[in-house]
Amino acid sequence: MDYQLTEEQLAVQAAAREFAQKELLPGVIDRDRNMRYPREEVRKMAELGFLGMMVSPEYGGGGMDTMSYVVAMEEISKVDSSCSVIMSVNNSLVCHGIEKYGNEAQKQKYLPLLASGEWIGSFCLSEPGSGSDATHQSTQALPEGGHYLLNGTKNWITNGGTSSLHIVMAQSHPEQGHHGINAFLVETSWSGVQVGAKEDKLGIRASDTHTIMYSDVKVPAENRIGKEGAGFSFAMRILDGGRIGIASQALGIAAGAYELALNYAQEREAFGKPIANHQAIAFKLANMATEIDAARLLVYRAAQLKDKGLDYSMAASMAKLFASDVAMRHTVEAVQIHGGYGYVKEYHVERLMRDAKITQIYEGTSEIQRLVIARHILKGQLYPPVFF
Ligand code: CAA
Repeated sequence: MDYQLTEEQLAVQAAAREFAQKELLPGVIDRDRNMRYPREEVRKMAELGFLGMMVSPEYGGGGMDTMSYVVAMEEISKVDSSCSVIMSVNNSLVCHGIEKYGNEAQKQKYLPLLASGEWIGSFCLSEPGSGSDATHQSTQALPEGGHYLLNGTKNWITNGGTSSLHIVMAQSHPEQGHHGINAFLVETSWSGVQVGAKEDKLGIRASDTHTIMYSDVKVPAENRIGKEGAGFSFAMRILDGGRIGIASQALGIAAGAYELALNYAQEREAFGKPIANHQAIAFKLANMATEIDAARLLVYRAAQLKDKGLDYSMAASMAKLFASDVAMRHTVEAVQIHGGYGYVKEYHVERLMRDAKITQIYEGTSEIQRLVIARHILKGQLYPPVFF
């Protein structure tokens, strides 16, 4: 494992930090309050190449590694997690899913559109009756001649109101259980795709989360990803990578709150000195720094395993589990350090606290991450590799 970021990774980190501070920070409170989708900000993210960072240049992407992606995600999440989840779903669930498991025609048709940000993608697995228990898909895509007929409802779909392409998991052969599930590329302009109302959420309020209804949508057979029945294993493999993205989002939220709390604690005086010089606050900062750094190492390790082509499923779940708990714990502490100021919108930490919660829920709850980790342990993998 290499702790030293390369020059390219450092440049990406600096560019993401500058973008977040200059372009995202000014309107972030307003977008959160009004649930306003960051259309212009997403366009700028696309211009800077943040929406297709890991896509090969031959398909119009940045050709960067996962390490570059996670350092960019951290910087953007320090300021605006609504923007970083849009970026994360497009990069690690949709683009990576197509590039890794799609055929050449699918890559050529869809990746340039997604990598350039002309199109945004969504990943449609969760259903009203199936979140953690993802093998039980009620959405059906039954084969009929040269196409599949897609019917059903998906919910909590990130980018749901703005995306042009969905990756939809649906049951094609109910008698085969999860081996009958397929993954499809569904264009949202097709007849029968209907977008439900935007969710009014606790956090990541500017991101665009919807229920989606599919009613007799004709999906051409050539839009199935992989071979017949490979959809569930595809979804699991893609979520392993997605969890690295959400772990880096959680890391950024925690680090953003820590930086704000540190600045505040050095400026704010009480009992004749900066509150940072009171042990009650200094110890909180020490805990924050230690746990955020530990989360960062887990995120970097998972990213590097992926970049080296090694198994990263356990490492990704550990990174997400730990980083999301750190984000929740330390955004609460950041509010506490700010006292009454932390409880109002102007100081940003209350938003970070609300945004942190979703990282313990989406792309697999913390309970599912523990399940995944425990299954690796019981299969004989005590830990992911540290030296590789
Ligand atoms: N890689 C490849 N295959 C995998 C896998 C992985 N990481 N994990 C499981 N599988 C395979 C298993 O090998 C098994 O295949 P076989 O039957 O051929 O052996 C199959 O998948 C079923 O696995 P299990 O028997 O372990 O099934 P289970 O029901 O006991 O557990 C689960 C499955 C781990 C709980 C899974 O359902 C899961 O991860 N649930 C959480 C779903 C989730 O993360 N949803 C997030 C929604 S997407 C989102 O949030 C996007 C957004 O917009 C932000």
